[in-house]
Amino acid sequence: MHHVFVTGVAGFIGSNLADRLLADGVSVTGWDNLSTGQERFMEGALKHPRFRLVRGDNLDLPALTAAMKGADFVFHLAANADIKDGWQHPRKDLEQNTIATFNVLEAMRANGVKRIAFSSTGSVYGEALVTPERPTPETDLFPIQTSLYGASKTAGEGLLGAYAEGGQIDEAYIFRFVSILGERYTHGHVFDFYKQLLEHPDRLRVLGDGTQRKSYLYVQDCLDAMLHVTRGHTAREAKHHTQVYNLGTPEFVQVNDSIAHICASLGVTPKLEYTGGNRGWIGDNPFIFLDTKKIQSAGWKPKLTIKQGIERTLRWLEANRWVYEARR
Ligand SMILES: NC(=O)c1ccc[n+]([C@@H]2O[C@H](COP(=O)([O-])OP(=O)(O)OC[C@H]3O[C@@H](n4cnc5c(N)ncnc54)[C@H](O)[C@@H]3O)[C@@H](O)[C@H]2O)c1
Repeated sequence: MHHVFVTGVAGFIGSNLADRLLADGVSVTGWDNLSTGQERFMEGALKHPRFRLVRGDNLDLPALTAAMKGADFVFHLAANADIKDGWQHPRKDLEQNTIATFNVLEAMRANGVKRIAFSSTGSVYGEALVTPERPTPETDLFPIQTSLYGASKTAGEGLLGAYAEGGQIDEAYIFRFVSILGERYTHGHVFDFYKQLLEHPDRLRVLGDGTQRKSYLYVQDCLDAMLHVTRGHTAREAKHHTQVYNLGTPEFVQVNDSIAHICASLGVTPKLEYTGGNRGWIGDNPFIFLDTKKIQSAGWKPKLTIKQGIERTLRWLEANRWVYEARR
């Protein structure tokens, strides 16, 4: 891995990845249309001699192909990461998560780039079909999809597999993340709750009944995991040159527990107003807990607990309130 092409480089995870790769001595070409990404997240990278930013859109295949020239590895992170509003614009997930992934693979083919890591999601497990009350392993039966986001990412995963099996790429890594926390976090429940508490510390609106159980992972732990596995070339040895890894912590919390951490940390005691039901929105999964034995047996484990991840996120949001204006 000498010259890495990062799609979604201005985003939460992509910008942290670019900083890590640059610190590790790698050259980075970052690609982003700045739809949800922030130029301020790239302030450090933009000063670095081994970083180049190309502003462009994944749906523009000729420009994407030209920008990727010279790369030897692709981290494909750009996506529409908004699950909740899927039904307000049903075509968006298809275009941004499936067709965009096809374009990235085609640009790789045109440039002879043979290695890719794809940010998938625990949402692909939708409604787990096997004993829902246990951590979901990568080998679960194919589930019922419950969101357009999950469906479009599942299709993206399928494309990576087909390109690898078809001999077009040598190593395909699919990482199914739980929700990620940490510095530059700009969407998700901590973001929403903190925003509300800034505006009115005496009340908090909670989607669902607060009993949803979810798992979270700190962003640097997520990057450690992806870099550990991709540098180990595990997909090259795999039968179909594709490796799928769940990424998460071996714990989960109830939304209510998470609210308790956030309120204690901020020193507020709001009245909780639940919208009701065991799902916060259509496609919300009341229990997300991934089995991470596979990645752990590859020699990785998370350094931070969920509570520590929430704490870091809050400290970062407190020091960077500008993101609330930027993500309006
Ligand atoms: N953050 C999480 O909790 C989480 C959980 C599971 C999976 N993921 C996946 O991880 C990836 C990164 O997520 P994130 O949280 O950093 O999201 P983000 O929205 O912060 O970053 C996505 C980046 O992609 C860019 N982008 C979007 N569409 C583009 C396009 N058509 N062309 C070029 N650039 C485009 C955006 O401007 C943004 O900078 C996504 O694929 C997401 O689905 C994230």
